[in-house]
Amino acid sequence: MPETPDNIYHVFDRMLPRADREAALKQRSHVFWLFGLSGSGKSTLALALERELFNRGLFAQVLDGDNIRSGLNKDLGFSDEDRLENIRRIGEVAKLFKDAGVITITSFICPKEELRQMAKEVVGAEDFSDVYVKASYEQCQERDPKGLYKKVQAGQVKQFTGKDSGFEEPSTPALVIDTENETIEQSVQRLLNYVLERVQA
Ligand code: ADX
Repeated sequence: MPETPDNIYHVFDRMLPRADREAALKQRSHVFWLFGLSGSGKSTLALALERELFNRGLFAQVLDGDNIRSGLNKDLGFSDEDRLENIRRIGEVAKLFKDAGVITITSFICPKEELRQMAKEVVGAEDFSDVYVKASYEQCQERDPKGLYKKVQAGQVKQFTGKDSGFEEPSTPALVIDTENETIEQSVQRLLNYVLERVQA
């Protein structure tokens, strides 16, 4: 990654400290990095989690693949290079939210170990939990909530994750949520328990 140029004079050291923001919000900020195949349940879980936290007076924000790709990252496609840039930017945005004291929930396919590692380094390992939302390609294809898998079968979507673009199983994720073998309610509860332990002041 390129170094900061020497004509840039950042003011990180003069910013309002994160601890002050966390104290005002009565929570600890953290990045929960949900990843997994399209249709595995990432968005459903992320949004349910955000709502559960909000109902408990906690301040959280979801960053979701299709939303970010409609705005900040609409210049990016699905080549390996673009996916890397996609995740690099999301990592930086997640870090900004975390520094603002916000519980940050990201929801991206993030298909390679290298990408997950990069995100962890950008955010900072101690503030980062990678959560694998696990469901097989066959299961996601059967659910097909956006009709994308049908388009893939018809040859209308290229570089599709799990088909002609690879997805690497994680080796040591912080948490695995197996949406193929749990109900949504069980998955949300397990995720919520994990999150509450890390964010309550
Ligand atoms: S990532 O690989 O770069 O992390 P990201 O999560 O941002 O992907 O975007 C994935 C979303 O884009 C999917 O949920 C799906 O709706 C849409 N999409 C469109 N084309 C593709 C494709 N070729 N591969 C994967 N997802 C795609």
